[in-house]
Amino acid sequence: MSEQFSVQHPILKRMYSLDGDVEQRTGIYDDWAVSYDEDTIEGLGYLGPALVAERVADIVPARTPILDAGCGTGLVGAELARRGFSTVDGVDLSQGMLDVARGKGVYRRLEQADITRPLPFDPDSYGAVVCAGTFTAGHVGPEGIDPLLAVARHGGHLVMTVLTPAWERMGFHRHIEELARRETARLIEDRADQTYHTQEPVTCRVVVLRKA
Ligand SMILES: C[S@@+](CC[C@H](N)C(=O)[O-])C[C@H]1O[C@@H](n2cnc3c(N)ncnc32)[C@H](O)[C@@H]1O
Repeated sequence: MSEQFSVQHPILKRMYSLDGDVEQRTGIYDDWAVSYDEDTIEGLGYLGPALVAERVADIVPARTPILDAGCGTGLVGAELARRGFSTVDGVDLSQGMLDVARGKGVYRRLEQADITRPLPFDPDSYGAVVCAGTFTAGHVGPEGIDPLLAVARHGGHLVMTVLTPAWERMGFHRHIEELARRETARLIEDRADQTYHTQEPVTCRVVVLRKA
């Protein structure tokens, strides 16, 4: 995927060229956890957490229970807390990232799990599931959508960023059409070409699905 578009920053080059090996990905994030916030927010001008928090705050009331999938160090949780959300759980592969997230004090519960597999949360329990920065090159493809929908309430939302070059190439579009055909979830919003990193010419889509 890295040869499909050009990024200069060494961190992004490394992230987007990961080959899908889950253990390697987990180790990289464990090692990166302590400097992740500074490297992404200051170094890259990363906007993913603010994009999803803004959308979810427009769609559901602040009392809604939220699951932050691929929560990393908790940047999304912090953005949600700033908007008044107080019942936010998080899940991530990397224990190092989760340890940093716990330190922010904005999550009710944090679990280490792979979002491409059935999750350790009650089915049909969250009013919204959010996911920033994880549906992206070298990370998680559309196979991560169904486990997240499984823990959302009927009528609940999945609000996620998808890296622009990953949308077609990893099959997000096709998978979402299939969800609509099966009457599992419907695409209710798809904002293309959103600025994702201010320091690199990289955009994302901000996509909202509603579970049937
Ligand atoms: C670019 S970071 C985004 C973190 C956070 N959402 C943010 O916006 O700052 C990607 C995160 O996804 C996690 N991740 C990658 N693959 C995953 C998977 N299959 N299941 C759960 N988490 C995963 C990584 O450990 C990492 O914390």
